[in-house]
Amino acid sequence: MEFQTVEWTGDCIKIIDQRRLPDEEVYLELRTPEDVYRAIKDMAIRGAPAIGVVAGYGVALASKKGEKEVRKAISLLKRSRPTAYNLFYALDRMEKALNEKGISSLIDEAIAIHNEDIEKCQKLGEFGAQLLPDNATCMTICNAGALATGGIGTALAVFYMAKEMGKRIKVFVPETRPFLQGSRLTAWELMKNGIESILIADNARAIVLEREGVDAVFVGADRIAGNGDTANKIGTLSLAIASNFFGVPFYVVAPITTFDPSITSGNDIPIEERAPEEVTHIGGKRIAPVNVKVKNPVFDVTPARLISGIITEKGILHPPYTVSIKKIL
Ligand code: MRU
Repeated sequence: MEFQTVEWTGDCIKIIDQRRLPDEEVYLELRTPEDVYRAIKDMAIRGAPAIGVVAGYGVALASKKGEKEVRKAISLLKRSRPTAYNLFYALDRMEKALNEKGISSLIDEAIAIHNEDIEKCQKLGEFGAQLLPDNATCMTICNAGALATGGIGTALAVFYMAKEMGKRIKVFVPETRPFLQGSRLTAWELMKNGIESILIADNARAIVLEREGVDAVFVGADRIAGNGDTANKIGTLSLAIASNFFGVPFYVVAPITTFDPSITSGNDIPIEERAPEEVTHIGGKRIAPVNVKVKNPVFDVTPARLISGIITEKGILHPPYTVSIKKIL
């Protein structure tokens, strides 16, 4: 990768400030759990696996101050964002390490979570890339790349590994309103890493699926229920519906740390709602009437029946997902 999303220095966590991309490559140093909480909440760092990795390091920072601070950090970080399961996976794992191995284990535990994520991304990419022919045309949504993980990404790892296998790849990138992760982050990341990317307006997705010979759609995930229902960035559901309508395979790419074993269906996934200004403003400029009422859910849930396969680090899961997920977990 041409940039570093998360780096543990021993004293602090260095992250690339994703709010400033694509114009400026600025790095932030997070020194306290409160810094980490704000960075996650304000979207300086985002993407389910990346949030999990920095949260683990946030607890590691607290471990320098004693057990009380560690427990406080875990509880604070759990309140930063509600949908991405990787956050809760990482924090529960840090708590378990504290209880079972002691406070001195926490830095190593956070590093292990990060290293495992790097390995998982690589495997996701390898499994996904095998599905693609040479000269493949793909579509994605939001940013499920290196910016969203500790490694080379989930959905975008498929494109990176396909390129490494010598396949030519072209990716349609919907802008992903309201936060524009597609145009600001995915287009930037793919261009920086030499993958042909074509930015489209969100509303152009259906016509592109119908007319541009898209071989497959690959998306990331924030939380996957026991039956395969998948929460991901708002707009994923309508993308899945359109893909199914036009007969384009629709794949979810996610590490097992995104599967929530405690819920049996997508109805139980909490959907984050964010500030109205994300909809009423673009780049600080108002584009809607003052005081207009706004609803801003930032994730949706794609029912399992619309998903052709779930690519994990242990292989590709097929329906019925209740059975294949149970087996893999
Ligand atoms: O609100 P965000 O930018 O954190 O949402 C990110 C997504 O929806 C990603 O697709 C998901 O976290 C998977 S990232 C590998």
